[in-house]
Amino acid sequence: MSDSVTGEHDLLELMREAGDLPGHVALIMDGNGRWAGERGLPRWMGHREGMKSVRRCVEASLEAGLKHLTLYAFSRENWDRPAEEVEALMSLLVEYVERESEDLLLNGVKVRAFGDLDRLTDKARQSVQVLEATTAPGDKLQLNLAISYGSRDEILRAVRRLAEQVSRGEIMPADVDAARFEQQLYTAGWPDPDLLIRTSGELRVSNFLLWQIAYAELYVTPVLWPDFGRRELFEAILEYQRRERRFGRVSA
Ligand code: FPP
Repeated sequence: MSDSVTGEHDLLELMREAGDLPGHVALIMDGNGRWAGERGLPRWMGHREGMKSVRRCVEASLEAGLKHLTLYAFSRENWDRPAEEVEALMSLLVEYVERESEDLLLNGVKVRAFGDLDRLTDKARQSVQVLEATTAPGDKLQLNLAISYGSRDEILRAVRRLAEQVSRGEIMPADVDAARFEQQLYTAGWPDPDLLIRTSGELRVSNFLLWQIAYAELYVTPVLWPDFGRRELFEAILEYQRRERRFGRVSA
């Protein structure tokens, strides 16, 4: 049966039968601008449509039984976009919180935001903080939103913190190992992504979770983010389930 004739329900069944779900899926949501451009619309309308894909993906992740979903909502580099686009993205974040808080709470989704949040507008930062506090009891799915995030910056921040611990004599240089380093990342305590999905066909990781994706399976789809939904997520998971993960070792 080809995917084009396989219904979404069948995809869910196939996924459940295959077992071994990715516990953690990370997503680079790309292509909002092109989606809008193709329709002669302003870029912010692509982002607005992209917000609907976020909702669909959260719902589908709950349905599939994922434990962590990490979305690249806004990179440090995105601050260099035209002011009106940055403002639109900040407003969308506030709108997302207003629209989705209740359903996220009801569905057991715990939201965590990470990145250089000090750079957000006060309103956006407060919205995100309230969302984190409101959804803290969620125990079905953890939705991690990377906002004002850059992986190199995260790594440098961790290195600086370890260097400070060494200079205070709390640890020796030889004590710096992977576990200590990971404790200083925004993602401390979270499992590494098993699957990294990028939409819109670009073959790049764009400064996203560089340490954490060391052994993630990569999946790139030409679908633009506003067109990405339940079916596309399930197809990516099925592809992941067909892969053999060796973590640098040989096959069993
Ligand atoms: C990349 O598309 C997408 C972004 C920079 C922003 C992603 C934001 C959203 C999906 C909406 C808000 C999200 C939340 C969580 C509320 P692009 O603009 O780089 O597209 P292009 O490469 O086609 O120009």
